[in-house]
Amino acid sequence: MRETNYVDETPINHRKDYGQFFTPVSVARLMTQWVMKDDPKTILDPAFGLGVFYDEVTKLKSGNQVLFTGYEIDNHILTYLNYNGSPNLQIENNDYLEAEVGSFDGIICNPPYMRFQRFLNRHDVLPKIEAKIGKKLVGYSNISSVFLVKSLSEINVNGNLAFIMPFEFFNTGYGKEIKKSLLFNHLLKQIIIFSNEKEIFSDATTTVCVLLCKNDGKDDDVKITVVKTNEEIDKISDITNFYQREIKPSDLPYNKKWTPLILALFSEQEPPKGFCKLSFYGTVTRGIATGANDYFALTKSKIKDWKLGDNNVCKCITKSSQIRQSIFSDDDFSSLYNADKPVHCLDVKDHKSQEIIEYINEGEKLGYHERYLTKTRNTWYKIENRKPAPILFGVFNRGRLKVIRNFTSSINFTCFHSFYPNEPGKPLINKLFVYLLSDIGQQIIKTNKRCYGNGLDKFEPGDLNDSLCPNQKQLEMIDYEAAESIIDIAKSDTKMAIRISNYLIERIMTAKQDTPLALSGGKHHCQLSLIAK
Ligand SMILES: C[S@@+](CC[C@H](N)C(=O)[O-])C[C@H]1O[C@@H](n2cnc3c(N)ncnc32)[C@H](O)[C@@H]1O
Repeated sequence: MRETNYVDETPINHRKDYGQFFTPVSVARLMTQWVMKDDPKTILDPAFGLGVFYDEVTKLKSGNQVLFTGYEIDNHILTYLNYNGSPNLQIENNDYLEAEVGSFDGIICNPPYMRFQRFLNRHDVLPKIEAKIGKKLVGYSNISSVFLVKSLSEINVNGNLAFIMPFEFFNTGYGKEIKKSLLFNHLLKQIIIFSNEKEIFSDATTTVCVLLCKNDGKDDDVKITVVKTNEEIDKISDITNFYQREIKPSDLPYNKKWTPLILALFSEQEPPKGFCKLSFYGTVTRGIATGANDYFALTKSKIKDWKLGDNNVCKCITKSSQIRQSIFSDDDFSSLYNADKPVHCLDVKDHKSQEIIEYINEGEKLGYHERYLTKTRNTWYKIENRKPAPILFGVFNRGRLKVIRNFTSSINFTCFHSFYPNEPGKPLINKLFVYLLSDIGQQIIKTNKRCYGNGLDKFEPGDLNDSLCPNQKQLEMIDYEAAESIIDIAKSDTKMAIRISNYLIERIMTAKQDTPLALSGGKHHCQLSLIAK
């Protein structure tokens, strides 16, 4: 409202003269998350404008404890503010670049963008800033970079800074010195890029990004976050843990253009020769969403207590922790079942049995039929009709992607994604598993992951369907017996199975096609082990 009034009533030339364009609330919220994360006591906004960052800070519970200082050179824009009675806000109607502001726990800013030539008192201001930071500001052609350089020198130890910058600054001469100081002082932690910028920054005239810095002296990898839509931004509850790529500071030389280096992280990698998508061999789909796992997942004792017959339950993996190895066999299933783990699922076929009626009534009494998912089904307790999948994928993974060869007749909940092979895929299922288990397969598939922070990677079914696999001819080069032997070994020694898989997959990637790859020794583990060394 305040912004609409201001824009409607202010000549465009006035806004241009002061470099006034406003941060969308969604982006201001993300930047505020970063600056507020370590409970700062003081925050500076060097280019206050209509105060979007102050507004976001005060929306947070801890925001009222913060002493917020805003600098704003334009007294016209200040007449649009109405912050009377905000004891924690101090607005200085001054030129930030000329001011001695002290230092702050947090700095948050969308600086004015304008060419340096338009910046009239540059001859007075620059020597002062140079004296303060102890560096010559040569070739700085945009005022936003001078704001950044000055602010970087005003952030307290362990303080956080969030700055909107033109993306082009990564590639320009004037950006070099800033990049150098961001890296040498280990300040830069995360870069946010907006892939559909016009939707998010509708009135921006330049491509923008957000830099998130922390003055902790730690040589952390730099996280790269790409956000696509306003809707996506609204869902981010912790920006620190929302990113797709990481890059070592040493892979970002300050004297090179950064845009191509950053964009290269997202470009499709050169596919290995001859590889095709996993979807050529079948489909990865989400596991069964029950809408009420507590009710649908059944243990041996619960089945017994409620006298639920075999025809009304089915075997089912209900938690990701139930499978720890890469092979899931009937013996593994029995161990879980006998340990009274919930490895069955309600699967009502005989609606008329008295016991089933009682269990359904109990579910209704407890309100399970009113859940978000259950109430949208025709019959609330009728789960999707699914077949057991021979390969399962972990949804959330730390380190390696969990790939499981399922030899049981268990179906699975959403803790795993299920791979259902098609006709060409069926006979190749063991060979595909060998590839997915190998380090090479894992590396290739992981290029499609989404990082959720703290080393947690998430895979959507679509990510896995699109991941690359050897083609049919390449897989045919692996001997059937060899694949079976690896599976045998994986039952007791996953590491060894991975090493042998690596050996086979490396060979099919380099071998001439049509040369069958067998493992001498067939199923004899000791000979296979020798090969893997
Ligand atoms: C890009 S706008 C950002 C406004 C607001 N913080 C936001 O994010 O929506 C930059 C603001 O800085 C002000 N400004 C320009 N030069 C300045 C200077 N040297 N010192 C302080 N404020 C300045 C402009 O008047 C404008 O309001």
